[in-house]
Amino acid sequence: MASLAASPHAGYGKLILFGEHFVVYKVPALVGAVAASTTCVVELSSAEWSTGLIVEDNRPAVPGYKVEKAEEMLGGTSLVLKHFGVDPQKRGIKLTLGGDLCAVSGIGASAAHCVSLARALAAALGKSCTEDEINAAGFEGEKGYHGTPSGIDNTAATFGGLLRFQRTDDAPIFKPQALPKPCRIVYASSGITASTTKVVGDVAAKKAADPAWYNALEQRYLNEVLPKADEALQAGNWQVLGEIADINHQLLQELTVSCPELDQLVSAAKAAGALGAKMAGTGRGGLMFAVCGDDEALQNSVFDALTKAGLGAVWKTSFA
Ligand code: MEV
Repeated sequence: MASLAASPHAGYGKLILFGEHFVVYKVPALVGAVAASTTCVVELSSAEWSTGLIVEDNRPAVPGYKVEKAEEMLGGTSLVLKHFGVDPQKRGIKLTLGGDLCAVSGIGASAAHCVSLARALAAALGKSCTEDEINAAGFEGEKGYHGTPSGIDNTAATFGGLLRFQRTDDAPIFKPQALPKPCRIVYASSGITASTTKVVGDVAAKKAADPAWYNALEQRYLNEVLPKADEALQAGNWQVLGEIADINHQLLQELTVSCPELDQLVSAAKAAGALGAKMAGTGRGGLMFAVCGDDEALQNSVFDALTKAGLGAVWKTSFA
């Protein structure tokens, strides 16, 4: 897991442990930064330089991701620039994106990009920003990727660590969570790049059409997942954490945001002995993760099983 002291000009990737989609509707969720980040370097033109925006995107990415997200990436970039009062029509600006975070749906690549840009831009402009101000700038940028972000991704990208997050009508409430011991995780791509705008929009439409259906799922999340997740994380009970991951995955299936590829990866991880597994993030593509507790051999077996499934890239991380 990434440390709370964010490195300069970087934004962390994240995995939502519990509560994606429900978090949009102001329900608490748990998120952990992964040990990889996007970095950004900003060059601002001097008076002689021409105007315009140049983006050199050197981030590692899964196939198709950058092409599919190109327009949203420029949208997010423009909103962060606007937030800092920078107009590329008046002053040329070059951004160079890099880092070791592989851009893939579900890892919060958009938030990592916006937060790293906010940090780099503040530095280039000689502005000293608080972490809350960087987070607010990242949130503005996230709106360019998907219209109504909950703010969980940019908060994880800014602060790192493991956080309990809740959206409110005002500023979000979030609190770092300390774990008694590290928990090994494997996460894997379904090979599908998802559209958060579309999937969040679909859930909103289904919720509006059948509030009782949505409320029943949310209630189950609040009763069967969230309190047990808080307890399991505090106690370092990875067996229970795995069991809750399974329950949360089932709720997300019922919410219609999983897909056959994610379900296949979850089953492969479980068959390899994972303590539990769930999709993470937007769904209908993107990522899943498996809980491996403190067992390195298990983490390796799950990694091998998910690699063998052959749908997309596989990574190891740990929450600590
Ligand atoms: C996306 O990483 C998580 C969602 O809950 C959307 C959001 O929170 O903005 C699906």
